[in-house]
Amino acid sequence: MMQDPTFVQKAFASIAPRYVLANHVLSGGIDVMWRRRVAAMAAALHPQRILDLATGSGDLAAAVGAACPGAQVIGADFCAPMMAHARRRGLPHLVVADGMALPFAAGVFDLVTVGFGLRNMADYGGAAREMARVLRPGGTLMVLDFSQPAPWLRGAYKLYLHRILPLLAGALTGERGAYEYLGGSIEQFPSGPAMNALLNSHGFADTQWIPLTGGIASLYIAQKPLAPQG
Ligand SMILES: C[S@@+](CC[C@H](N)C(=O)[O-])C[C@H]1O[C@@H](n2cnc3c(N)ncnc32)[C@H](O)[C@@H]1O
Repeated sequence: MMQDPTFVQKAFASIAPRYVLANHVLSGGIDVMWRRRVAAMAAALHPQRILDLATGSGDLAAAVGAACPGAQVIGADFCAPMMAHARRRGLPHLVVADGMALPFAAGVFDLVTVGFGLRNMADYGGAAREMARVLRPGGTLMVLDFSQPAPWLRGAYKLYLHRILPLLAGALTGERGAYEYLGGSIEQFPSGPAMNALLNSHGFADTQWIPLTGGIASLYIAQKPLAPQG
């Protein structure tokens, strides 16, 4: 699946000023817990050099940075207006960069995190390969994103995603169209075992899937193998 990068860039630029508020309201604050979960898993690895790709407002970069004192966290995103909030909150290392062609040498990061970002990229497999390239052998990727919830939750979730959320988000941000895109992007994004398979076939191994809040979101933790795989 391809997301159109020009559309994605414009959509995020248009919602940038209200993005953080909208996230917290629309998720009932659960998004904060999801990012904290990633940060706690990251801290257990004691990484020194961390890339937070699609950092946007810097919410995930800030959570990971707070959990990993002493580590250098670089936030990268291809939408400069989204990073204005990250800059205001004092994140020191921000780079305007496209996840499909990162301006970093191979093997320089211990950990790459990407929160609600991979789903918006033009080519998931290509983006995974690029993240694998900048990780050192044995380094870790953490992907946090929406996924397909457990069957018992699906009906209510679909109703919320396609009917209620665009209305609420439209009222909060004035950009209902950007949130109508969200529902479609979630439904066509590989979820659970499909995401494990995608990562395992694009430079990673031993991918673990951790469903969060009934599977509304998921955390995928993948390893870059120590030796190149044939
Ligand atoms: C939903 S926001 C996520 C922001 C933040 N990571 C968070 O947890 O809230 C998605 C971000 O992905 C960025 N993005 C989408 N495609 C990208 C790409 N190809 N390269 C870099 N950033 C990208 C958008 O600009 C946007 O800021």
